[in-house]
Amino acid sequence: MKGLELNSDKSDKLDDNSSPCVDDDDAPVLSSHALAALKEFLAEQNPDAETEGDSEVVLVSEDWRLSQFWYEPETAKTLAEEVLTLSEGFNSRIACIACPTLFAYLKRINPNVSVQLLEYDKRFEQYGSDYTFYDYNHPEDLPSELKHAYKVVVADPPYLSKECLEKVAQTISFLAQPRDSRLLLLTGEVQKDKAAELLGLHPCGFRPQHSSKLGNVFQLFTNYDPGMRLGGWEN
Ligand SMILES: C[S@@+](CC[C@H](N)C(=O)[O-])C[C@H]1O[C@@H](n2cnc3c(N)ncnc32)[C@H](O)[C@@H]1O
Repeated sequence: MKGLELNSDKSDKLDDNSSPCVDDDDAPVLSSHALAALKEFLAEQNPDAETEGDSEVVLVSEDWRLSQFWYEPETAKTLAEEVLTLSEGFNSRIACIACPTLFAYLKRINPNVSVQLLEYDKRFEQYGSDYTFYDYNHPEDLPSELKHAYKVVVADPPYLSKECLEKVAQTISFLAQPRDSRLLLLTGEVQKDKAAELLGLHPCGFRPQHSSKLGNVFQLFTNYDPGMRLGGWEN
């Protein structure tokens, strides 16, 4: 199955630069690599913790066997703001298919937002009733109350295969309100034609970025014209 290509090696974080060094005041200082490794360790211990000194959401560590590549904070914030803009005024329900970072940022920005996370990784059961187990191989094996219940649906499929996108598209159609729903798909640019064919989606100028650098070019596809937002629709 065609997967996502990883450029960087996480083991870099524990390279020669990881040893503590000493500054002028003899206070121990961690190198940036050691700090990154420490943050990752702390995130695993306490998945909901905020990174000290900033407002980044810290998720559980990526499991590459599940094709997990989390968004850069700026990407997650941009997507969350877009989704909140779309749902404003309608008190709309939002579905996040296989994009737990977006779910976490939405909840961080607006704890009252109505958003459901559909995810294969059961570590996200920590989100209680906001979490639904989802396996794209069984695209409609979902609770009936989720059917056509969402005004905004966002999906980030785990694989770049045609088969995976076809099945995720089936789930998107299952979840979305039949009329006037807003669909956002994050995937490789290689899926452009298939995304248009299956769901009538067009690519935006915005380029999603991931914490682990990927070899594939990623794009955001939408079924609505974002105007000036998200870099607009590409011609
Ligand atoms: C490319 S990642 C997208 C994550 C997104 N970039 C984020 O930061 O939230 C793909 C997601 O698909 C999930 N996944 C893996 N296997 C799956 C399966 N069989 N069915 C549904 N989702 C799956 C992974 O756990 C992961 O969250």
